[in-house]
Amino acid sequence: MSLEEWKEENPSMRQDLQILYELVRKLRPEVILEVGTGHSTLAMLRAMEDMYGDFWRFLYSTDIDNDRVKLFLKKAKDAQLKHGKFYTQDSIKFLSEFEGIADLIFIDSSHEYTQTLSELEEASGKLAPNGYIILHDVTAIRDVRMAVGHFLTIHPDEFKYFVLKTECGLGVLQRK
Ligand SMILES: C[S@@+](CC[C@H](N)C(=O)[O-])C[C@H]1O[C@@H](n2cnc3c(N)ncnc32)[C@H](O)[C@@H]1O
Repeated sequence: MSLEEWKEENPSMRQDLQILYELVRKLRPEVILEVGTGHSTLAMLRAMEDMYGDFWRFLYSTDIDNDRVKLFLKKAKDAQLKHGKFYTQDSIKFLSEFEGIADLIFIDSSHEYTQTLSELEEASGKLAPNGYIILHDVTAIRDVRMAVGHFLTIHPDEFKYFVLKTECGLGVLQRK
C-alpha cells in the first residue's frame, strides 16, 4: 500500500501522515525512535524507503501491545518497507535502554501527562544535537500539551518549539 492508501484508511489523520512523511524527507534523520507503533510508523518508513532505498538507516518503534506490533510489522513487510525494527516494550524502558543517539524521536503512546513527561525526559537524553522530538496530538489532547509545557519549563533555552496545525497537532521540539 502507498501513503495515499493509508491516508484513505485513516481520514482523521490525513494531514498528520502527510506532514510526518514530508518532515522525514526534509530532515533526513538517519536514526528514528518511535513510541507508539502504527500508521505513523508506516508514513515514516515510507519516507525512509523513498530516501534511502538500500542504505541501512533505521526506525526503531515500540508499542506495549504485541498484537499491534505484529499487525504493523506485517503491514510494513507487505509494503516492502525494510527500514523498521519493531519492539514490544514500554516506552520508558525502550527509550532508556536504547544504546545510541537519535536524530528524530516521535512520541505517540499513552498521551497521559506523567508518562509523556517521562518520555520527553528519556527522549532528550537520546537526542542528537540539533535533533527533533515530535509529539502527536498536542492540539487534540490536553495532557500532552501540558506535559510539553512542563518539559519546556524544566529545560528553558534548550529547545525551539512550534506546533504544526494538522488534524491532531504535531508539536515539534528542536534541540538548539
Ligand atoms: C494512538 S495510538 C498511536 C500509534 C501510532 N503512532 C499511530 O500513528 O497509529 C497509541 C499507541 O500507544 C501504545 N502505548 C500506550 N501506552 C504505551 C506505553 N507505555 N509504551 C508503549 N506504547 C504504549 C498503545 O498500545 C497504542 O498502540
